[in-house]
Amino acid sequence: MKNPYIAHPAIITNIRQETAETKTYTLEFTKQKRGLVFIPGQFNMISLLGFGEGPFSITSSPLRKEIFEHTIRLVGSLTGQINRLNVGDIVGIRGPYGSGWPVGLAKNKDLLIIAGGVGLAPLRGLIDMAIEQRNGFGEVEIMYGSRKPENLIFTSDYDNWRSAPNIRLFLTVDEVPKGIEWPYGQGVVTNLLKFSKINPANALAFICGPEIMMRFIVRSLLIREFAEKNIFVSMERRMECGMAKCGRCMIGPKYVCTDGPVFSYPEVKALPHNLLAASL
Ligand SMILES: Cc1cc2nc3c(=O)[nH]c(=O)nc-3n(C[C@H](O)[C@H](O)[C@H](O)COP(=O)(O)OP(=O)(O)OC[C@H]3O[C@@H](n4cnc5c(N)ncnc54)[C@H](O)[C@@H]3O)c2cc1C
Ligand code: FES
Repeated sequence: MKNPYIAHPAIITNIRQETAETKTYTLEFTKQKRGLVFIPGQFNMISLLGFGEGPFSITSSPLRKEIFEHTIRLVGSLTGQINRLNVGDIVGIRGPYGSGWPVGLAKNKDLLIIAGGVGLAPLRGLIDMAIEQRNGFGEVEIMYGSRKPENLIFTSDYDNWRSAPNIRLFLTVDEVPKGIEWPYGQGVVTNLLKFSKINPANALAFICGPEIMMRFIVRSLLIREFAEKNIFVSMERRMECGMAKCGRCMIGPKYVCTDGPVFSYPEVKALPHNLLAASL
């Protein structure tokens, strides 16, 4: 029987600096012939020998079979070590794990994609997939916010997203530093919803970001008559096994690592602690 804890070596073939603390790593397996087969929104456990292991969303399109990408923000010890890696270095990969965005349900529907900060990472693969399979999905609106302009990730993708038919990108930042020309929104990402032209009756909303942001977004979507079942969020919890074995990630009876990280709003609503309680 195969040991599910064994990590597969993958080589870093490219590194792109997104912000001062965030980089996107392009990876290729060194031994496994088959590429990574995954659904956007799923994650891998990435390990560095001697430094530990952590969950990170897969940020590339699932249609790019030969490589996969992770976008990682430096916050602590493991991510600090990953931040020091160079092209040619090797990391361990276990995965893919978790539920992913409901791509099957999204076919032929309009998509409202809302993210804050590094929360855009698990949604980038879905956006790229919707561009590559433009006839398989309806209109796509991307609403993305960060603290300052220099904290926005994937800026080199924006022209590609904007030039695809029926895809609209809206940006906002909390704060515009003096002397910077900023032609987009200022304020919380919820403010961008007023620009939406999508009909909630034929749309799914996919949200990832800080829980406080997701709570306000859910509330605004419900006011706009999005059905609860058409709202999906990606939840983040500390993880160890990624396989529903250690219990580290549990919220009530649910394992975020296998039941999630993507949950429908009715699923989150049924959890204890009223996590995204959206009282109207
Ligand atoms: C499903 C999932 C997908 C993720 N995808 C990404 C991604 O695409 N890019 C990315 O940069 N990060 C992602 N993360 C978060 C990432 O796993 C953690 O930032 C990382 O494991 C921290 O490791 P560290 O040793 O550097 O930090 P530590 O030294 O362990 O901690 C540093 C700080 O980060 C906090 N922290 C650590 N892990 C988490 C966590 N899981 N949730 C909330 N706070 C945490 C700690 O409380 C502490 O304040 C994801 C997490 C989950 C659960
Ligand atoms: S991370 Fe171990 S049970 Fe989810």
